[in-house]
Amino acid sequence: MKTMLLTMSATVALLANSEELYKNCAGCHGEHGELSAMGQSKIITAQESNLTVKQLTAYKEGELNQYGLGNIMLLQLSKLSPEEIKELAIYIENMDKNSSSE
Ligand code: HEC
Repeated sequence: MKTMLLTMSATVALLANSEELYKNCAGCHGEHGELSAMGQSKIITAQESNLTVKQLTAYKEGELNQYGLGNIMLLQLSKLSPEEIKELAIYIENMDKNSSSE
């Protein structure tokens, strides 16, 4: 229980940064993850964060290429640290494709 509370407050602190980070993704995946990137990817809104971390880490390592466009994701992730990848994944998990940003 204590761990859960700690995790939750850490998540809140990270949200501002992950919102910034996600701006780099919105061009292809949509402001709320509601788009299929380049007509290929799945819709990532609310995708479970463990899966997202796994996918992003693999893209970064050049080990994931689901639709032949893995190199595009590799470029997006080359500058992100494991911590930032985790923040982004949590942000994505909490996204609602119907919500407006303002
Ligand atoms: C230039 C366009 C572009 C940008 C910017 C981009 N992506 Fe992607 N993304 C793609 C494409 C294309 C794929 C599919 C790649 C493949 O072939 O596996 C993808 C795949 C994904 C997947 C896996 C979805 C699935 O279908 O399983 C996730 C998660 C993801 N991107 C998250 C992100 C995040 C987070 C960012 C920002 C750091 C980002 N993307 C930035 C184009 C983009």
